[in-house]
Amino acid sequence: MMRPSRQNIIGIVGLGYVGLSLVKSLFERNFIVIGYDTDENKVEKIRRGHSPNETIEDSELVVINSSGRFYTTTEAKELAKAEVVIVAVPTPLTAMGNPDLSLLERACVEIAPHIKSETLLINESTSYPGTLRDFIVPLIKQNQGDGNSKIYFACSPERVNPGDVFYSHGKTPRVVSGLDDSARERVHAFYSEFVDDVFVASTPEVAEMSKLLENSFRLVNISFINEISDYCVSQGIPVREVIQAASTKPFGFMPFLPGPGVGGHCIPVDPAYLLQDAADKGKALPLLKKALQSNRSRSSQITSFLKTELGSLKGKKVLIEGVTYKPNVADTRETPAEPLFESLMAEGAQVHWHDSLVQNWNNSESSRVSDNKWEITLVLVLHEDSDVSELIRHSEIIFDFTGKLPMESGRVRLI
Ligand SMILES: NC(=O)c1ccc[n+]([C@@H]2O[C@H](COP(=O)([O-])OP(=O)(O)OC[C@H]3O[C@@H](n4cnc5c(N)ncnc54)[C@H](O)[C@@H]3O)[C@@H](O)[C@H]2O)c1
Repeated sequence: MMRPSRQNIIGIVGLGYVGLSLVKSLFERNFIVIGYDTDENKVEKIRRGHSPNETIEDSELVVINSSGRFYTTTEAKELAKAEVVIVAVPTPLTAMGNPDLSLLERACVEIAPHIKSETLLINESTSYPGTLRDFIVPLIKQNQGDGNSKIYFACSPERVNPGDVFYSHGKTPRVVSGLDDSARERVHAFYSEFVDDVFVASTPEVAEMSKLLENSFRLVNISFINEISDYCVSQGIPVREVIQAASTKPFGFMPFLPGPGVGGHCIPVDPAYLLQDAADKGKALPLLKKALQSNRSRSSQITSFLKTELGSLKGKKVLIEGVTYKPNVADTRETPAEPLFESLMAEGAQVHWHDSLVQNWNNSESSRVSDNKWEITLVLVLHEDSDVSELIRHSEIIFDFTGKLPMESGRVRLI
């Protein structure tokens, strides 16, 4: 497909996991990319070729920086040069667990005066259906300098899977949509430049809702398998073998694995956006609500289980191995390690943690596994470089939530 002439300079708003992985894909397709972020330290780090996350290697960043086709800025006015602007800022939860659109709001207010006429403006941040139409469009229009300019509003909920080397942008099908036919055509043409398979949804609400469906589906199934796992453990039935057996059915079954609860910026967060949106519209989604509650209470379920198995945890030396939300990434957002840490502390345990990818977390430093003979070790996540034999050597009893530890030592209990 011929690249439309007005889609050569791309502005990315937010250089995080999503934004930087987009920079890489767009750079590889010969676009000129302007990376805008309000975090001065991050922008400086990127300029010096130090990657802030694992979606891009330092060596790749150095090549991209020196190409003359990418530059970073903390000045929103630089976006005036872009013909496509993609917004990829955080859409987290408040401390009370409710959706927090304040960062998206701020980004829209800041960039609005600089978006020139005929720009394709795409939202990739995850939010509830109607965010583009009812939240972003009014904010941009109210804060624009020139009320007569024509902006093509579109959305494409991001599906990047940090740390996944196979499912790159090109290989992960995209769902896109726009407010009108012109915006839909433009957003389709744009993503077709670097994504093999682009699905054009009839409305932005369909695209936005599809993202919430994907992640709500995973939350419900992970919460369900954790419930099944707890039951199997209580009955002495090896749940992973049960899942392996059920997976031999070639249709109508999809395996999910048990664990310490689901974390990260998406799966425990996006369903809260959907639940809030439904509540605002007077609708209830009780199954989803229950799944979210179940995930949020996973840490206290694990602590109760440990007390039943081992008695009081008071004074016990406990090591949590792996505090990231998944293997081989250094991201600790919404990690299940945090509520588990707090729940064990509340029982009077002496809780320490170790993670080969994280030095500082939760206002403390990673312990060395060899520092102690741990009375209880809880293995939540294992990275490629995790030293399993050291863990076994320095632990009296290990509860393994990963299913990856060898059972021979007799000290490992599978959860
Ligand atoms: N991380 C993932 O795996 C993933 C996957 C799919 C979708 N998403 C969604 O993508 C969005 C971005 O997530 P992320 O993981 O990249 O977040 P992130 O926290 O890694 O990065 C966001 C960046 O935006 C910057 N930022 C904040 N406010 C800004 C503003 N007003 N102007 C410019 N920059 C600003 C921050 O400094 C940060 O560098 C979220 O809505 C998230 O739900 C994330």
